Amino acid sequence: MIKVAILGASGYTAVEAIKILLRHPEAKIVAVTSRQEGSPPISTVHPSLVGRLELPLEDLSPEEVGTRADCVFSCLPHCASAELIPQVLAAGAKVIDFSADYRLDDAATYLEWYGHEHPDTGRLGTTVYGLPELFRKQISGATLVANPGCYATSAIVPLAPLVKSGLFETEDIIIDSKSGVSGAGRSPKLMTHFPECNESMSAYNVGRHRHTPEIEQMIRRHAGARPQVIFTPQLAPMDRGILSTIYIKPKGKVAEEDVMAILRQAYTGERFIRIVDHLPATKDTVDTNFCDVTARVVSGRVLLISCLDNLVKGAAGAAVQNFNCVFGLPESLGLL
Ligand SMILES: NC(=O)c1ccc[n+]([C@@H]2O[C@H](COP(=O)([O-])OP(=O)(O)OC[C@H]3O[C@@H](n4cnc5c(N)ncnc54)[C@H](OP(=O)(O)O)[C@@H]3O)[C@@H](O)[C@H]2O)c1
Repeated sequence: MIKVAILGASGYTAVEAIKILLRHPEAKIVAVTSRQEGSPPISTVHPSLVGRLELPLEDLSPEEVGTRADCVFSCLPHCASAELIPQVLAAGAKVIDFSADYRLDDAATYLEWYGHEHPDTGRLGTTVYGLPELFRKQISGATLVANPGCYATSAIVPLAPLVKSGLFETEDIIIDSKSGVSGAGRSPKLMTHFPECNESMSAYNVGRHRHTPEIEQMIRRHAGARPQVIFTPQLAPMDRGILSTIYIKPKGKVAEEDVMAILRQAYTGERFIRIVDHLPATKDTVDTNFCDVTARVVSGRVLLISCLDNLVKGAAGAAVQNFNCVFGLPESLGLL
């Protein structure tokens, strides 16, 4: 059994990871951390875990976590994560980081988008980006995996094979994404307060959402050219799920079948990427590790439509997929 600890276990992505790990035949959860006073049982903050996981929420030191566990899932906000991870790694555990801290290659881009110096600049550019469908070889055996952003996954999965083909412009990519409210985490905020978001939709962080540089970095890596991306995230009145509609210009004339063929070829044999003929809906992927993708050609422009569950393929499911890859287990173990 591989011993796993979860940092920030009171949050949304953490409880999702716990539920997946509880049915994983090779993983055993040995510690769950939180800054809650008095080490309450985890089921007091996640009642869905009553009778399923009896561990207390402990405010452990990163060294203690890294000693107790073989692998640590860091479900902390950015910055808080990179402040603890170096000590967890030094204690000998492998880490899968849910936050954005190790996704970007360079400190200047991190400073520009996150507004503060990175706490562990030395590791930037050396960590592996946790999208097994694109970086499986590098993830295998890695000590630190940067789990991708939820919006970023919904954009990179369909875009990567297209930009790699060289048949598409990279200067004018428009990504229009809608997310369920759990994407903002469990801490109360005005925007995610029920009367504000129920029966309502709104755009936010227009032109400055922090997944933009992550998406650009991955397009650059696959296309070899500097892309220009307009990414507009929107809050949708649902608990979970992301639907992204992506507009990309072909360099010449392209048929829908050709675009679908590129996608199908890129993801042949990939259990969790489904290239579908129909227009996918978030409900098709809720509670699963699937990312569904299709393409259309409209007025000479290619539209890619993708959806996934932000808490599963966008976070905890991807993390377990990475965990399986890191430890040489069958990649779909524990995953639906
Ligand atoms: N939600 C999503 O769909 C999603 C998808 C992909 C990636 N992510 C990323 O995954 C991470 C966790 O997201 P989430 O949605 O699970 O967040 P969340 O529900 O807000 O949970 C984060 C937990 O971290 C702990 N925490 C908060 N600030 C901390 C600090 N300064 N130091 C130590 N612990 C702190 C809190 O627990 P205590 O107060 O109990 O200590 C909190 O419950 C974030 O980096 C997020 O960007 C989220």
